Amino acid sequence: MSLEYLYARLLLLLSLFCFECVFGREIEGGLPAGSVLRTMNVDRNPKSSHFFNVKDFGAKADGQADDSKAFTAAWKEACQSKGRVHLIIPRGTYMVGPLRFAGPCLNVSSLSLRVKGYLKATTVLSKYEYGGGWIEFAWMEGLTLTGGGTFDGQGAKAWPHNNCSEDSNCKLLPTSLKFVAMNKTVIRGITSVNSKFFHIALVECHNFKGSKLKIQAPDASPNTDGIHIERSSSVYFSSSHIATGDDCISVGQGNSQVTITSIACGPGHGISVGSLGKYPNEGDVSGLVVRDCTISGTTNGIRIKTWANSPGSSAATNMTFTNIVMNNVTNPIIIDQLYCPFLSCASKAPSKVKLSDIYFKNIRGTSSSEVAVALECSKGIPCQNIYLEDVHLDLSSGKKEATSTCSNVKAKFIGTQIPPPCT
Ligand SMILES: *[C@@H]1O[C@H](CO)[C@@H](O)[C@H](O)[C@H]1NC(C)=O
Ligand SMILES: *[C@@H]1O[C@H](CO)[C@@H](O)[C@H](O)[C@H]1NC(C)=O
Ligand SMILES: *[C@@H]1O[C@H](CO)[C@@H](O)[C@H](O)[C@H]1NC(C)=O
Ligand SMILES: *[C@@H]1O[C@H](CO)[C@@H](O)[C@H](O)[C@H]1NC(C)=O
Ligand SMILES: *[C@@H]1O[C@H](CO)[C@@H](O)[C@H](O)[C@H]1NC(C)=O
Repeated sequence: MSLEYLYARLLLLLSLFCFECVFGREIEGGLPAGSVLRTMNVDRNPKSSHFFNVKDFGAKADGQADDSKAFTAAWKEACQSKGRVHLIIPRGTYMVGPLRFAGPCLNVSSLSLRVKGYLKATTVLSKYEYGGGWIEFAWMEGLTLTGGGTFDGQGAKAWPHNNCSEDSNCKLLPTSLKFVAMNKTVIRGITSVNSKFFHIALVECHNFKGSKLKIQAPDASPNTDGIHIERSSSVYFSSSHIATGDDCISVGQGNSQVTITSIACGPGHGISVGSLGKYPNEGDVSGLVVRDCTISGTTNGIRIKTWANSPGSSAATNMTFTNIVMNNVTNPIIIDQLYCPFLSCASKAPSKVKLSDIYFKNIRGTSSSEVAVALECSKGIPCQNIYLEDVHLDLSSGKKEATSTCSNVKAKFIGTQIPPPCT
């Protein structure tokens, strides 16, 4: 066998398994219309792969021109294609306005979006929809978002317009990456910086896996939550770095089976459940596991917050927080059922959200404030079955012992307890 023959066999094998390993360079550079890749799309085999490169649809990638139209056109063809579909955003800087990638893509068996480029959000706020997303994915099954690229929300110009703490009728700024009614989604190895509002939000998503994410915004940026999850199930986030101005991860209402592991969080407001009970008819939260996380320099570590004066009655139950390291966190463990950040909150009526079966296990590290454990439950519905096992939290200053406070709670304490349990 000649070397040439072996080489040809190798290429063929590679191309069978991995089109991009062989043809990656061409895809990167963008091909002229009517090239091999385009003609591949008439292939009727539902198992074959089809590639769509935004540069073939006119994306300029100069960081100035609005490339939204090219992205939308590429998406439209990709979604109407069949079999395994690959949408490619090659290296380069792209300025894009709000984008909506919506299904269903009826004949598409899997959709891989590979973002290698750097995407910048337009700073013209009037282009965004109230409460919408900068880039929204909706009604799809089997999306994989990878590629190592970056989504830059360019939030600095928008943050001064976020006056939601003074004005409860404020206009919500756009979330950078919003996933709505998505099944079987994987996002891996992407970066999100300086979102205008949340970085990533999931609404009614089922079977969602996120890993190796990098999320970053300044610690003083308003509502730049790293990941917000709502009305979703079977959600798994792991191995990610989140440094932001609000919650690293917030688990909102209506979620079940959410697992969060190996997250480095900070600065920010920590990992939160809630806020719950702001609106009537909220769903319950159950089956949350947070483990093997490191939380550093945040205002909270693990926080469960429910609104005072809540209109509805929901529940949060079966939640486990285990192997968490706190480094100089202001409130390492906090249950706050009197949450009310708005100035308009005069009434402090007890929250109607029922909290039960909550386990804190092996939580260690340092607290920057004296009260390291605060369990402030509702006077109306006291917390039930709260367990603290092997908690060791010292004051960062090392000057004296940390303390704990509690009200309306019957907690069970097992193993090491520093600070000493409240009575
Ligand atoms: C999906 O494929 C079927 C069969 O090949 C075809 O009849 C139908 O028009 C396709 N639908 C779309 C939306 O492309
Ligand atoms: C997602 O799964 C649910 C439950 O199986 C189903 O009702 C829904 O239509 C699916 N959505 C999509 C976009 O496939
Ligand atoms: C909040 O910002 C919006 C839009 O920028 C503005 O219309 C509104 O008057 C502001 N409210 C307050 C209380 O400043
Ligand atoms: C509690 O949640 C865990 C993790 O999601 C789940 O495996 C377990 O079955 C749940 N337990 C109950 C009693 O629902
Ligand atoms: C701990 O956090 C406080 C503010 O919360 C900060 O002032 C202090 O410098 C931090 N200490 C260390 C050692 O990082």
